[in-house]
Amino acid sequence: MEKHWWHKATVYQIYPKSFKDSNGDGIGDLQGIISQLDYLQKLGITAIWLSPVYQSPMDDNGYDISDYEVIADIFGNMADMEELLDQANQRHIKIVMDLVVNHTSDEHAWFVEARENPTSPERDFYIWRDQLNDLDSIFGGSAWQYDQKSGQYYLHFFSKKQPDLNWENAQLRQKVYDMMNFWIAKGIGGFRMDVIDMIGKIPDQGISTNGPKLHDYLKEMNQATFGKHDLMTVGETWGASPEIAKQYSNPDHHELSMVFQFEHIGLQHKPDVPKWDYAKELDVPALKAIFNKWQTQLELGQGWNSLFWNNHDLPRVLSIWGDTGVNRVKSAQALAILLHLMRGTPYIYQGEEIGMTNYPFADLEQIDDIESLNFAHEALEKGQDMAAIMDSIRMIGRDNARTPMQWDSTKQAGFSSADKTWLPVNPNYQSINVQAALADPDSIFYTYQKLVQLRKDNDWLIDADFELLETADKVFAYKRVRDSESHLVVVNFSNQEQNFAWSDSFEDILISNTDVAVALNKQKLQAWDAFCLKLTD
Ligand code: NOJ
Repeated sequence: MEKHWWHKATVYQIYPKSFKDSNGDGIGDLQGIISQLDYLQKLGITAIWLSPVYQSPMDDNGYDISDYEVIADIFGNMADMEELLDQANQRHIKIVMDLVVNHTSDEHAWFVEARENPTSPERDFYIWRDQLNDLDSIFGGSAWQYDQKSGQYYLHFFSKKQPDLNWENAQLRQKVYDMMNFWIAKGIGGFRMDVIDMIGKIPDQGISTNGPKLHDYLKEMNQATFGKHDLMTVGETWGASPEIAKQYSNPDHHELSMVFQFEHIGLQHKPDVPKWDYAKELDVPALKAIFNKWQTQLELGQGWNSLFWNNHDLPRVLSIWGDTGVNRVKSAQALAILLHLMRGTPYIYQGEEIGMTNYPFADLEQIDDIESLNFAHEALEKGQDMAAIMDSIRMIGRDNARTPMQWDSTKQAGFSSADKTWLPVNPNYQSINVQAALADPDSIFYTYQKLVQLRKDNDWLIDADFELLETADKVFAYKRVRDSESHLVVVNFSNQEQNFAWSDSFEDILISNTDVAVALNKQKLQAWDAFCLKLTD
């Protein structure tokens, strides 16, 4: 199997509004990111997934793009972007751009023209119907919005200000490819493709994801753009199965490098109910079964997966599955060790490497996210109780991941010199911040740094088979086996002591957050113990 740089890469996701503010307006920006590249180099990451920085009215924080070839004023300008690419490339860090082409902003010139002039070619870049059907928007309400001027409805699977593009239109597709080539020529490292599984939608048949032409479009896109370059392409594919993942990421299919699928994240919610009905307790055996399925069914050479706990749409993993109390550091290290030694490309979401947690949002005044606000307003209309609504937002709302990065213990956590930041800084910044993490050799940061290095140094992380071990429910243990070489990863996924029967002998401890000898002698794991051993042949 041909190996690419991204097989050995660890990707770091930056949410630009919240990473680092250089000009004191309370919002992160490109110069802020540039100023922290040395920090990212110290962490060792290979690539940055940059959430959108394009011109946008920011209805959905940049996932509503009004010009793909212009940088949003709040983030800087194209010269800043070029400087970021240059400075990052000098540090061997690639910049993976967010590609949001399922929809644009309603303020994009194409949509403005389409709306103003129903006979224009742009009209057909979007999806218009005389009648609506019962498709719902992911952000609540109908997926159709009435347009007074033409008397038709347009489709928007997200907010009203995010009209869906019509991928059936060949001229539109070519315009998207031209735009991608514009960015490739600037020296980017690849694309993260926002809700790419939706571009083949057939709204009249109620098909939103995995439409019949989806893979034809991706093959065409690959040929027209990144296929000629060694770029990383990762598709956000919420509902992919291993079979579907192979369609996207089997190298012979010439589509994408990898998928980013969320089956394990599904355990944060109760089955078959809206996401706001979160699950209070993690079903660890179910989590093991899901990882086991992906690790064993997406065979090497036939597809490639992403490994993640967090992103800008998810709660902070420590607050939902880890421990935010006395075992915060240990649980963060355990979660990292468990994930990063599996097969796939690991992602670190900003602040994960210092163990940032959810925010104690008190009321809707503190909420910015359109999805949370729409949910709250609908729930209030249905007569639901405000306290319950806030409980859901505190647990699962997207703003939890979006509060400013905590750099140090000074005002606004060193994120900004402004008196007010766009989202408030988590009050725990006095103790949870980068400066404190760097000063402590046992911090979460150094566990991540070591995992990133292990990935660069060890080919078995790519090649070795995955074998889940039979253990107590809350122990997650697996072997990675390649020929006669075996590595064992053991994690106590709980705040309680667990039994762990042990028979193999080992020659090396690759990483651990505990005294391995004690654990092995007693055949017991303390809360959140985690380690990886190289076993003796
Ligand atoms: C997925 C993105 O990750 C999310 O933040 C955004 O709201 C939707 N796609 C719409 O672009």
